[in-house]
Amino acid sequence: MVQLSLPQHSKVKPGRTVKAAGEGAKKKKTFKIYRWDPEKDENPREDRYEIDLEKCGPMVLDALIHIKNDVDSTLTFRRSCREGICGSCAMNIDGKNTLACLKPISEISGDAKISPLPHMPVVKDLVPDQTHIVAQYQSIEPWMKTESPAPTRERLQSAEDADLLNGTDGRGPAACILCFCCSTSCPSYWWNGDRFMGPAILMQSYRWVIDSRDEATGERLDQLEDPFRLYRCHTIMNCTNACPKGLNPAKAIAELKKLMVARQA
Ligand code: SF4
Ligand code: F3S
Ligand code: FES
Repeated sequence: MVQLSLPQHSKVKPGRTVKAAGEGAKKKKTFKIYRWDPEKDENPREDRYEIDLEKCGPMVLDALIHIKNDVDSTLTFRRSCREGICGSCAMNIDGKNTLACLKPISEISGDAKISPLPHMPVVKDLVPDQTHIVAQYQSIEPWMKTESPAPTRERLQSAEDADLLNGTDGRGPAACILCFCCSTSCPSYWWNGDRFMGPAILMQSYRWVIDSRDEATGERLDQLEDPFRLYRCHTIMNCTNACPKGLNPAKAIAELKKLMVARQA
């Protein structure tokens, strides 16, 4: 039988255990956190922090902020809005990609295991390197392209056309916060991410394709006419399952595929 093994320098080794909760703490919980420092020639490690949940707020991000502020200032992660809007605190928590600021600690039974979004290079600790996926986003030219003369006021659209973007339930493609939980959950993106656009970028592509004000629809679809960029989606659905905003990138991709067929008919 074939034995699969990680390259030596990728193996996550046991790290430090820090008992920061104190003897009298009534609500202790251990967070097992992936650590890697590019300035040290060492393998990644998993540090274990035992903290008192009465000293932090209810979300996983609150625990991380408590650890950074009060226990170990070297812990590195991204965050900004703390309310599920900026997308910067995306990470893998308890085996699922999600936003740390929207994930209640109470939903995690046992120790909380936290690692960076999978299958992206790591900058440090929980911070993934988004250079490639942001370049893919740039490549779809995510802005309104028009040929017709600019109107004296803004370009208007009907309420129905706006609903296509926003969704009648607020969960349309324009609600995407580009957290990349979906793309980094997609096995096809793991293996073909150099050429496959992945669900986050394809949903943005769809968002511009269906914008009634945009005048580059044909050009946008032409750019997806390629064996990899769109068609490496094999309807695995992990993307929709992962989205912490309840959006449906798999459906957006299916709609793009339908538009590709319709223009050939
Ligand atoms: Fe994040 Fe959802 Fe947008 Fe994917 S579709 S980038 S998971 S908000
Ligand atoms: Fe991947 Fe979602 Fe398609 S998980 S294969 S992009 S349906
Ligand atoms: Fe902005 Fe979590 S901090 S989405």
